[in-house]
Amino acid sequence: MLKGLIFDLDGVLTNSAVYHLTAWNNLAKELGINLTDEQLDSLRGISRMDSLNLILKYGGQENKYSEAEKEKFAEEKNTKFVEQVEKMTPADILPGIPELLSDAKKQNLKMVIASASKNAPKILTKLGIMDEFDGIVDPATLHRGKPDPEIYEKAQKLLGLNANEVISFEDAQAGVQSIKSAGQFAVGIGDKEVLKEADYIVPTTKELKLSEIESVFNKK
Ligand code: G6P
Ligand code: MG
Repeated sequence: MLKGLIFDLDGVLTNSAVYHLTAWNNLAKELGINLTDEQLDSLRGISRMDSLNLILKYGGQENKYSEAEKEKFAEEKNTKFVEQVEKMTPADILPGIPELLSDAKKQNLKMVIASASKNAPKILTKLGIMDEFDGIVDPATLHRGKPDPEIYEKAQKLLGLNANEVISFEDAQAGVQSIKSAGQFAVGIGDKEVLKEADYIVPTTKELKLSEIESVFNKK
């Protein structure tokens, strides 16, 4: 029986995934690295330092910079990202999400956030939905990023529920893999080829309907 929902943040509740990708793409260009669309998309859900390391690897520059230089690049990217976050308002909540959250409340479902972003509390506050959630996994406590199941396992622990009592929402391939490795029901939002491991896939948040997702969940 469904008792809780777990949400990724960037690209699920709001469009901030685009801000992350734009900021990374600009930094990559400054470093002389031209990322393909596929390479850029593969950064979704990946932690800050892992993203930078992946970009350097794509550019064949994995051994070029010291840790201190890499810290500086990551900081520079984060400054650009936070500039965008500062401009966010409740109007930046993606379509379909307010209805989904209110349907969940009506059913007394518990809800937590499983985002790798250290900016998650700031973003949720800007969107005005911080109080909707019963908890946020602290990314500083994670040993391994998505696609490892750790973050979704921790989120499930925060809910105090079993894997077969939760539905988890993701826009990233690494995120869907993390959910499935944690043994949970995955809803993928985006390209159905990229997110094919998910149990239920919609192209955008507009198509999310809790009752429909739940009926598929109940048949599993
Ligand atoms: C999320 C986003 C990633 C981002 C990561 C770390 O998982 O999907 O694109 O790199 O969080 O975010 P942060 O705000 O801590 O740099
Ligand atoms: Mg995401």
